[in-house]
Amino acid sequence: MNYRLAPSILSADFARLGEEVRDVIAAGADVIHFDVMDNHYVPNLTFGPMICEAVRPHAKTAAGGKIPIDVHLMVKPVDRIAPDFAKAGADIISFHPEASDHVDRTLGLIRDAGCKAGLVFNPATPLSYLDYVMDKVDLILIMSVNPGFGGQKFIPGALQKLREAKARIEQSGRDIWLEVDGGVKADNIADVARAGADTFVAGSAIFGQGNYGDAIKTMRAELAKVSA
Ligand code: DX5
Ligand code: ZN
Repeated sequence: MNYRLAPSILSADFARLGEEVRDVIAAGADVIHFDVMDNHYVPNLTFGPMICEAVRPHAKTAAGGKIPIDVHLMVKPVDRIAPDFAKAGADIISFHPEASDHVDRTLGLIRDAGCKAGLVFNPATPLSYLDYVMDKVDLILIMSVNPGFGGQKFIPGALQKLREAKARIEQSGRDIWLEVDGGVKADNIADVARAGADTFVAGSAIFGQGNYGDAIKTMRAELAKVSA
């Protein structure tokens, strides 16, 4: 299994964002998770397309390989702002279906802008939003906390939801990423992987540690137990 670790820069030092992004990539990050909050859909406010554009040149490996920027939109409405993130260098843009009046149209807007499109499911949001759009989705993001803040505790019900999302992906036969976000740490990442996740957002569990390399190595060692 090709697992991807996606550190959330929500927990990074914003005064040194470029350096933080470079450091966490040097430490082994596969994807940069970019949490956009609007103080409307969620009760917090973070950063927008201008910061995404500023981060883009830093999201590469030492050899110059591109590291995807995974934009998680916690904003309402979605359609006005989503294409701005594509222009700002996002590779994946995901949104919460409740925040869009026309989910199918929003997925199309994101893909037409050249990005992969994702749907995000809050703990109480049913997966039935996927019923008629599976062919338009490149990523499913299961929230294992209520969105808005880093450092919250993992909600165990997310495991069953991951299993159900995984079954839907297998049934579709499509290459859809299954991402999990919220409270993921070295001590639960193996269980989360067993439930079907392949892409793991971790904010405080990486940026809250002194040594990002050690934090990522410990998570990979846990994931290796799953594949073994
Ligand atoms: C929460 C965000 C998460 C957050 C995760 O609304 O979507 O991406 O950064 O933080 P941790 O890993 O600390 O739970
Ligand atoms: Zn997120």
